[in-house]
Amino acid sequence: MCGIVGCVAKENCYERIYAALSRLEYRGYDSAGIAMLQEGAGFHLRKKRGYVSNLKGRPLAGEAGIGHTRWATHGKPTDANAHPHGCGKFMLVHNGIIENYLSLKEELCAQGEQFASETDSEVIVKLISRAYTGDFFSAVRTACRRLRGSYAIAVLCSDHPGEVIGARQGSPLVAGASDTALYICSDIPALCGDADYICPASDGEFICIRDGKIQFFDEAGSELCKCFTRVLPESRAETSVSGTFMEKEIAQIPRAIADTLQGVSSLDYAPCARALRAAKCVYAVACGTAFHAALVFGDVVQNTVGAHVVCTVSSEFRYANLPIGVGDLVVAVSQSGETADTLEAVRLAAKRGAFVIAVTNIAHSTLAALADFSIVMRAGPEIAVAATKSYNCQLVCLYYLAAQMQYFRTQAYPVWFLSLRDLPAAAEAAFDCFPQMSALAAKWKDARGMLFLGRSLDLRTAAEGALKTKEIAYVFAEGYAAGELKHGTLALIEEGFPVVALSTRRDIASKTENALAESKARGAQVVLLSQSEESLNESCADFRIRLPNLPECLMPAVAVIPLQYFACRLCLLRGYDPDKPRNLAKSVTVE
Ligand code: G6P
Repeated sequence: MCGIVGCVAKENCYERIYAALSRLEYRGYDSAGIAMLQEGAGFHLRKKRGYVSNLKGRPLAGEAGIGHTRWATHGKPTDANAHPHGCGKFMLVHNGIIENYLSLKEELCAQGEQFASETDSEVIVKLISRAYTGDFFSAVRTACRRLRGSYAIAVLCSDHPGEVIGARQGSPLVAGASDTALYICSDIPALCGDADYICPASDGEFICIRDGKIQFFDEAGSELCKCFTRVLPESRAETSVSGTFMEKEIAQIPRAIADTLQGVSSLDYAPCARALRAAKCVYAVACGTAFHAALVFGDVVQNTVGAHVVCTVSSEFRYANLPIGVGDLVVAVSQSGETADTLEAVRLAAKRGAFVIAVTNIAHSTLAALADFSIVMRAGPEIAVAATKSYNCQLVCLYYLAAQMQYFRTQAYPVWFLSLRDLPAAAEAAFDCFPQMSALAAKWKDARGMLFLGRSLDLRTAAEGALKTKEIAYVFAEGYAAGELKHGTLALIEEGFPVVALSTRRDIASKTENALAESKARGAQVVLLSQSEESLNESCADFRIRLPNLPECLMPAVAVIPLQYFACRLCLLRGYDPDKPRNLAKSVTVE
């Protein structure tokens, strides 16, 4: 959702900004740009539609610079709409959405300003320029007071070489420091290798890099005393791998699950014991893949603990008029911890007095800061836009949370609890399905649509398999309740139509079988994933794929792995890049 970076460094400033932008590219890759400020020479600007790699070339000179990688919201992905945007003595990069930009634009046009782009961001640099009377920081503060919506910005002023000013409202921004460079940036991993100490900004704060130091200020302009922490090695992301990041991240799933298990089992749950034991109502909120993890959590809590969980996509949470209040528990799931819809849902829940538990991959994220209690998974950096290993790790955290809930209520862990330790090996065993999934991807390479069917927990896995297929292979796919097929969607089935079915619950296997028989009778090609050979009638599928054996409740954490791999193979065979699917971004920091 756009990545921004600002840097002050005597040496290699352009190269450092370029390196950080390459690591921020998961946030958007519609266009990229860097502006450098060189003392005595002014600005040097390079910006282009497309990937950050388009900015390669002879480094632009300067001791301070700002960079941007864009996920287009206002205005098409063109060179003109690429950031940085300039006005007079200023250059600016922006992540977020300025909701009142149209009225500001009208006002500025009436004052004679002309706009070079269709972006909402350009109004900010115009406002800063008009507010400037010699005091750089004061001009930025004055302009920010006019903005509604969300922003993280980094600004240069040609009167102030060696300075970068940043501001944050609703979009992430951190400061980073090393012996040789000072930074502001959208996230911590992007600074890996070059900033040893980091400090996140909170909403309403400003970061000023000047005179070789970093200072934080509040909205009133008073300096804040902030603590920098050392960057942990886990936050360091790799930038290049052989093969795609997605393939590599799928390969890392067993290790990520093992690390996450270790993390969640050494956590002290006492601070949330009361909420887990006595919550009147449990809500789970998340977006995209994380929402599918939330749905699994809902099913598991319902089956294991007997408590009802209301699962709502974050973007609907605020408008659903839920009777949420004191004594309720909200579990918010987000890999990045920066998804705007999820943060807004959590802010609302917190305002109403609910206890909030965050499940996230990023310890310093906004979500972790907002929550009353955080469970940080140890998936490691996930670079590919489509989530894979983070999903498996979210499930591990949520299983653990459900088990704690059961424990605090009954003093006993669920029967499947000890089997959690078998998950890493089972995930590894799921890799045995890969040759078959590869063959299937080749067979269905030109399919125009697919159905993923399942019941109960398998429906969640089916939904995630379908989402992966849509996201990266651009094949329309639907995760559908097997029993609901006959009530309408069966009409889509014709000769050769691909159907992927999951059947991991033995007690309802015969019911799923009915849906497969109905599909096959209409010409569908059916592939069935199941851990048991015997439970299903031989004739109900064209291909069988054997999953590792685990307690049924834990199956979603491994049954999804062949589907993640299938989507990745399908994407590659169709000639697309699984790491950078069109139109998407990994971290969606706008509502
Ligand atoms: C984006 C990504 C998805 C992800 C979703 C939620 O839409 O493309 O892969 O599942 O955001 O992200 P989060 O960081 O909140 O888990």
